[in-house]
Amino acid sequence: MVSGLLLTGAVLAPAGATAAPETFWPLYQNPYVPVQLRVHDLMSRMSLDDKIGQMVQAERQAVTPQQAADLRLGSILSGGGSVPTPNTPAAWADMYDAYQKAAVSTPLGIPTLYGVDAVHGHNNVYGATIFPHNVGLGAAHDPKLVEKIGKVTASEVRSTGPTWDFAPCLCVSRDDRWGRAYESFGETPQDAIDNATIINGLQGRSLKAKGSVLATAKHYVGDGGTTGGDDQGNTEISEAELRKIHLPPFQEAIKRGAGSVMISFSSWNGKKAHGHRYLITDVLKKELRFSGLVVSDWNGVHQLNGNNDDLTADEVRESVNAGIDLFMEPYDAPKFISLLRAEVDAGRVSQARLDDANRRILTKKFESGLFEKPYADRSLQKDFGGAEHRAVAREAVRKSQVLLKNEGALPLKKGSKVFVAGKNADDIGNQSGGWTITWQGSSGPITTGTTILQGIQQVGGPRTKVTYDREGDGVDGSYDVAVAVVGETPYAEGEGDRPNGLKLDAEDLSTIAKLKATGVPVVVVTVSGRPLDITSELGGWNALLAAWLPGTEGAGVADVLFGDHRPSGKLTFSWAESFDQLPINVGDGKKALFPYGYGLTYPKT
Ligand code: GLC
Repeated sequence: MVSGLLLTGAVLAPAGATAAPETFWPLYQNPYVPVQLRVHDLMSRMSLDDKIGQMVQAERQAVTPQQAADLRLGSILSGGGSVPTPNTPAAWADMYDAYQKAAVSTPLGIPTLYGVDAVHGHNNVYGATIFPHNVGLGAAHDPKLVEKIGKVTASEVRSTGPTWDFAPCLCVSRDDRWGRAYESFGETPQDAIDNATIINGLQGRSLKAKGSVLATAKHYVGDGGTTGGDDQGNTEISEAELRKIHLPPFQEAIKRGAGSVMISFSSWNGKKAHGHRYLITDVLKKELRFSGLVVSDWNGVHQLNGNNDDLTADEVRESVNAGIDLFMEPYDAPKFISLLRAEVDAGRVSQARLDDANRRILTKKFESGLFEKPYADRSLQKDFGGAEHRAVAREAVRKSQVLLKNEGALPLKKGSKVFVAGKNADDIGNQSGGWTITWQGSSGPITTGTTILQGIQQVGGPRTKVTYDREGDGVDGSYDVAVAVVGETPYAEGEGDRPNGLKLDAEDLSTIAKLKATGVPVVVVTVSGRPLDITSELGGWNALLAAWLPGTEGAGVADVLFGDHRPSGKLTFSWAESFDQLPINVGDGKKALFPYGYGLTYPKT
């Protein structure tokens, strides 16, 4: 008897249960049995190939459901923009269920763990609620709201099937030149620690609870500290600095029960994190006692020999023995499996290492309830992208706005004549940024929502006369105010590295110049993933509002522009006075244009 359970051949429901006993056989299929017993029983039935397959994840485009099952793959992912046609919740659920059906039809019936990057809502899916990127959420200083965002995101993800979210990024971005700065909550570890509440939102009260997904603390460790903000570059700092700046968010994530950790592409003092046994096994697993699963990043193992080429046996051995448990091998799953099998047969990777990895992976699968409920929870689709979810996003947009300058043009007056211009005024793709519908994101009407211009029109109401021209053509002195919505266009990861400057582009400068020429007060709204180099232009602007990357609910920007909600955001990134100052971070003695923690509001009326 174990904890009141009968562990006979036909294992029964809890002893003393009055209902007719169900029969669960084999043991690991019994949901009433403690997870560790289920894991032990299942692993005792697994072959070497079963165990190796469990440690490998492939991209959905590379394997059919049956091929994934034949390889005994433990996991499938949709990379950024890897979506079914049509890109709808129903089609996602059908796709997901097909992989799951094939997986549970294998002899041991181990369900697959399907992962997606839902980094600001379920951003791959058309019509999903897209939240502000982390750069804006950090400025909102509302961890409870961020937890709620996690909960809404998890619900929309689970409604389409996947039970694993490769989020949150708990990176501490120390250099604005980094293309992933917007995935960071701020330049101090405290910003990531404060907002690690999103993990609780994503994972719910338990992984098997309705609408919960497995969260991923990423990217371990020091991804935001590379020299020059070089994505996937080299973080050249002491261990003391690494432990002071980049490790604390992972300690917080572990405290909050994050079920997985993703390894960073970057290096620490010249050694790739994907091969770093000290960081992964000695620090993360032993010192920090992380008991979840450790996953590699996209072909991250392929970089270990110094170039991002074909996978080698050395790279497989080094990364497995470093302590990574599950390998994101989008298009090389079969090769990874055969190389790892050879390393095990040669005694260069131990059975104990395979067992550690499988124990961690299977524990999360049992905890997620996948053996009992492997399929998409379509009942959640009724709320997908709905008004209630979008209201949460709009609140986050409002709270993330940071007012940096105001000589009286803000708040806009309802009933006034407002001219709106700029490439980011009426473009939901630009205001959502990278990781939206596609990996890199893109300009244009890529999904449903409200642009900032539409928000201005809605919030301004019928009495406010709003004229729009992207380039600013037609503006004249008859307007009460001119609003230029400018800044960056979408990018992700290294595509967003800006080693040569962060100034506004020629189109933006031309648009603002036209508005300024009329003598009408000019309000500039920056839509960007980071502070921009605007010092030389700022003098001619009456007001400046940093909107960051607000996502689909652009009306939240208008809520602040018209004063329906007074600006409350505070910078979590020092705003450099000049590009040459970079990196600039609070406490480093450099004088910022707008310091960390800065943010104005409107006078109380
Ligand atoms: C990417 C990113 C990582 C993401 C993964 C899967 O390269 O580095 O954040 O989770 O691949 O899309």
